[in-house]
Order: sequence, then C-alpha cells, then structure tokens
Amino acid sequence: MFISLEGIDGSGKTTQAKRLAEALGEGTPLVREPGGTVAGERIRELLKDPELQLDPLAELLLFCAARAQLVDEVIRPRREAGEDVVCDRFSDSSVAYQGFARGLGVERVEHLCDLATGGLWPDLTLLLRLHPEVAAERIAAEGRAADRFEGEGMELQRLVAEGYEEIASRHPRRIRVIDASADPDSVHAAVLADVGGVRA
Ligand code: TYD
Repeated sequence: MFISLEGIDGSGKTTQAKRLAEALGEGTPLVREPGGTVAGERIRELLKDPELQLDPLAELLLFCAARAQLVDEVIRPRREAGEDVVCDRFSDSSVAYQGFARGLGVERVEHLCDLATGGLWPDLTLLLRLHPEVAAERIAAEGRAADRFEGEGMELQRLVAEGYEEIASRHPRRIRVIDASADPDSVHAAVLADVGGVRA
C-alpha cells in the first residue's frame, strides 16, 4: 500500500511517517518530498533555499519534476511488487501550497500532478491537522533555522491549512484527518488505526 502523510509545517508528519514505516516492518521504504532520489535531493536544495526567488509556477514544476523521478525510481516499482511505501508529503502538498495558498488553482494543480505521476495517487493519505499557531510554537521550540517556506510566516501556513481542509473534503475516501495536537504516541495510534482500517 502507498501511504502519504500531509500537513502544514510543524504538524509532526516527519516523526509520524518514520514511526509508521517502522511499524509496517523492517525495510519499508520511507521517502520524503521533495527528495528521495539523487536528482530529487538536488531539486530539494533549490526549492528550500531562502536566497532564491521562485515564480509560483516554476516552483510547482520543480516539485513535480522531483515527484516524477521519485515515482519512477521508487514508488511505482515498490507498489507493483506489492510492497508498502510511506511518503512524507506527496501531490496533495503541491495542491495545498501551490494550488491553494499560492493561488495557482486546486484543480489545475491536481491535473498537473496527475500528469507528473502518471495518474498515481496514494492508496491512503493521512492529514495531520494542527492549528497554525500551535505548529509555529513547535517549530520555534525546536530552534532550527526556517527554510524558504517557513520563513514566509503565518499567513502562508494559515492558507495551507485552509487548502488542506478543502482537499480533504474533495477526497473523503482517500484522505483521513487526524488530530495532531495530541501527544506523539496517541497520534501514532490514530495513524495505525486508519492504516489497519483500510487494509482490512
Ligand atoms: P520539508 O523540510 O520537507 O518540510 P516538512 O518537514 O514540513 O515536510 O520542506 C518542504 C517544504 O516544501 C514544506 O514547507 C512544504 C513545501 N512543499 C510545497 O510547497 N509543495 C510541494 O509539493 C511539496 C512536496 C512541499
């Protein structure tokens, strides 16, 4: 099964993606977006660089380029072999950030992602829902430097959170919303319950 985790910056996705991959068994691939391949990690450096000014469409196409490579090298082969793959962000991130928050259009971006992935969408998407103010406090507590997206501040995160709500209501069968304000163990238990429910 191909499972993606989504949420605003600071929602705890990365921790939960790791724990889920471990729970699914040793060797379960965990990939992150943008990245997960040699070419994708190079594109990631470009995309996260706070020194760089990127046009929203150029930004979207770079995310899609990294994703096309990831699908081709990792996700599709694993999935065709009947294995699990856990992905820390996938096409829904482009729809929420570039489509909704940057205003390129939800349907338009969904269409472009469809093209980039050859129509591949996750079997299950777990959306970690967290209030943007709480997420910002978590990022501040970690004390690391903000990347190009986090550096844009609250307004972007608020729009992204709103975008995710719209996406969840467009795809209620694929996307499960999880309350990410709880402690990490409880969130992990909710993640496992949803994965178990879909497998059954
Ligand atoms: P990352 O460090 O992976 O953020 P996080 O740990 O919060 O997942 O950085 C990726 C950033 O890129 C993040 O701010 C979200 C953004 N992003 C998009 O804008 N569009 C996309 O399609 C993807 C995959 C990520």
